[in-house]
Amino acid sequence: MKKDCDLIIKSIGQLLTLAGDAPKKRSEMSNLAIVENAAVASKNGKIVAVGKEDSVISEINLLDNAKEINANNKVITPGLIDCHTHLVFSGSREEEFYLRIKGEDYLKILRGGGGILSTVDAVRKANFDDLFKNGIKILDDMLSFGTTTVEIKSGYGLSTEDELKILKVIKRLDKEHPINVVPTFLGAHAFPREYKNKEEDYVNLIIEEMLPVVKEKNLAKFCDIFCGKEVFNLGQSGRILDAAKDLGFKLKIHADQLSYDGGAELAAKMNAISASHLEYISDEGIANMKQKGVIAELLPGSLFFIGKTNYAPARKMINNDVPITLATNYNPGTCTIKSLPIIMTLACIYMGMSAEEVIVATTINAACALDLQNDVGSIEVGKKSDMVIWDVNNYKQIPYFLGLNLVEKGIKNGTIVFEKTKRRF
Ligand code: NIG
Repeated sequence: MKKDCDLIIKSIGQLLTLAGDAPKKRSEMSNLAIVENAAVASKNGKIVAVGKEDSVISEINLLDNAKEINANNKVITPGLIDCHTHLVFSGSREEEFYLRIKGEDYLKILRGGGGILSTVDAVRKANFDDLFKNGIKILDDMLSFGTTTVEIKSGYGLSTEDELKILKVIKRLDKEHPINVVPTFLGAHAFPREYKNKEEDYVNLIIEEMLPVVKEKNLAKFCDIFCGKEVFNLGQSGRILDAAKDLGFKLKIHADQLSYDGGAELAAKMNAISASHLEYISDEGIANMKQKGVIAELLPGSLFFIGKTNYAPARKMINNDVPITLATNYNPGTCTIKSLPIIMTLACIYMGMSAEEVIVATTINAACALDLQNDVGSIEVGKKSDMVIWDVNNYKQIPYFLGLNLVEKGIKNGTIVFEKTKRRF
């Protein structure tokens, strides 16, 4: 029996299916499961047929008013997935950017009440609508670069009321923007000023008040924490993550970002789904993450933006069977890059990753880091019809053409949601 479809994309030169629903490791990261001369068909936003064009055409029944797209031999990938962002905030921090260029230290700025805390001041003053409009603009830009799923963390409120405000903005963004938004609670992003010298009281507030209310209102899928010196130490991080786990949150950790703190080991011990940053990860941390299958979320845009060179040891992790993802980490302090293709290029240049590895790291592996591997991250029957048509004939050009937006069309749930203005030739 033929399958009805309301969208067909034909004449695809290289269809990167990324088939699979588990994180790809080591040599699996070099296999993009490419079909040439391909077609994809979908109905009601879900893929119904994929493969060689002849075979797809023989399987489907094109409904009246179905949309037909000719890909003109170009490349199609799954919609990109940005699995680590802090994009709901207010204001900007250019002064801090120039201070850092002059040699000022990130943690020293935070200690002085700047950095994350200056964004907390701005967010506490901002109203819901302004945060929402700012978020929509950022998501529009991300969509134009091929992103169709984004994780967003709270963490610039640091009071119950303001954390809830951010999480409600995130929920509305998910409802109103074509991009799928996945919410993460990050009340443990920094200690707010009013808890100076009363840090344990803030940890208790997170455990006793914030986490239960976030759970009750169903405002977050994940609980994340910034574990490190001058933020949440191992003991405090462990207590918060234990409480989050008991409430049913899946766990994420900002680990070993500015120094070695044992965060990767903690992520493994807590069975976190992922650990991020990891610039100072130890060999033991790598071994423990491998053993527990913790996914590494690497954020080279932040190293680049803060002008440091100690990129996370991606190759060592890949060689040790740790699954890798890449994300923008878009935030006003350590990374204002919204484009995942630029992040791919940085990962190639500074972390020695291949074109295949960076594509895996922003599609199927990123889906796994958000526990969405059954819905997105690859082009397979039953998954969402989320795809990007790239204005290239060879996928290796995607990370190569740095800074040029090569996205020709973005497709979300079977609908074109972004289309580049036509060029003359
Ligand atoms: O991932 N590590 C913590 N959070 C962000 C920075 C947030 C900020 O500086 O506003 C990061 O780099």
